[in-house]
Amino acid sequence: MIFSRISGTGGHLPGNPISNEELIAGKGLDSSDEWIRVRTGIAYRHLANAGTATSDLALEAASRALVAAGRNSDDIDLIIVATTTPDMIFPSTAAILQKKLLVTNACPAFDVQAVCSGFVYALSIADKFIRSGEHRCALVVGAEVFSKILDWSDRTSCVLFGDGAGAVILEASDEPGILASVLHSDGSHSGILSAPGCLSGGTILGDPYLRMDGQAVFKLAVNSASNVADEVLSKAGLSQADLDLLIPHQANIRIIQAVAKRLALSDSQFVVTVSEQGNTSAASVPLALDAAIRDGRLREGMLAMMIGVGGGFTWGANLIKL
Ligand code: ACO
Repeated sequence: MIFSRISGTGGHLPGNPISNEELIAGKGLDSSDEWIRVRTGIAYRHLANAGTATSDLALEAASRALVAAGRNSDDIDLIIVATTTPDMIFPSTAAILQKKLLVTNACPAFDVQAVCSGFVYALSIADKFIRSGEHRCALVVGAEVFSKILDWSDRTSCVLFGDGAGAVILEASDEPGILASVLHSDGSHSGILSAPGCLSGGTILGDPYLRMDGQAVFKLAVNSASNVADEVLSKAGLSQADLDLLIPHQANIRIIQAVAKRLALSDSQFVVTVSEQGNTSAASVPLALDAAIRDGRLREGMLAMMIGVGGGFTWGANLIKL
């Protein structure tokens, strides 16, 4: 039987960390460091400069993941990029990344759009491609220049997000590495979190910026993350006691704490990067995974769960054994 297993990870954050004070002063916001820290747990984020595209961040993260896996570009036979902020309407950011990485073997490359759940979706898709036997070495990336869609005059949303990219190399294996995945979407909640504008006839129709009902998103995120954690464990025939580490989407420390309260896990079992990175949407889960592997919290043989929640409303989880 063929399974898939993560063989390397990489992450990249653009530029220097920007503190709450620096952001407030730089953007002229009516806010405070205290408000942002208390309500969100965010102290810093990284913002890409105007000339940096999502594929540039993805290239850095992917290159690091390839080194960690001991692979080179032409070993890759599938590229999936999860992003809400693609370089352009088309071609896909995955195809642009394929060119930048010098992958010349004409392997399939495509984007996945599930907002902050995007990486969890992409990993589940790559796992299925590998288990089909048709692919052996997938590059799966979550990458965003989310700052492109932020309205810097809307203090209720612009302080929450940051830019970055995380990547994994997923390879065919005799041993299971992705033990189970669960994916969900409920489009009836599409209005609580969206960037509703679109391009038509050479102009932007509607509002191109991210809009959010913060409290509705908060409640839905806590409920869906808690429920999907139980669902993916039961799909794998495991329980919370078997888990070593939980890697949740990094939207807000209060969402993470509320999920922790619902699950019988200690604070030290949760990976938290939101304080240093803000919410990097599809990049948040692979960046947190990479951080946990590089600082030694997640080691070979350990069991971890990744949870995504985001616009759509979408949510999902992957249970992985490293
Ligand atoms: N600085 C100062 N004051 C602010 C700011 C700010 N940046 N933003 C809002 N306020 C004010 C509001 O105007 C309001 O003032 P008022 O009482 O005079 O009207 C007050 O703070 C309280 O506003 P609320 O919206 O009630 O604050 P709340 O406690 O709900 O916190 C927050 C807002 C942080 C957005 C919270 O709802 C939240 O975290 N929601 C989840 C949203 C999220 O994480 N989205 C990420 C994308 S989705 C995802 O990744 C899953």
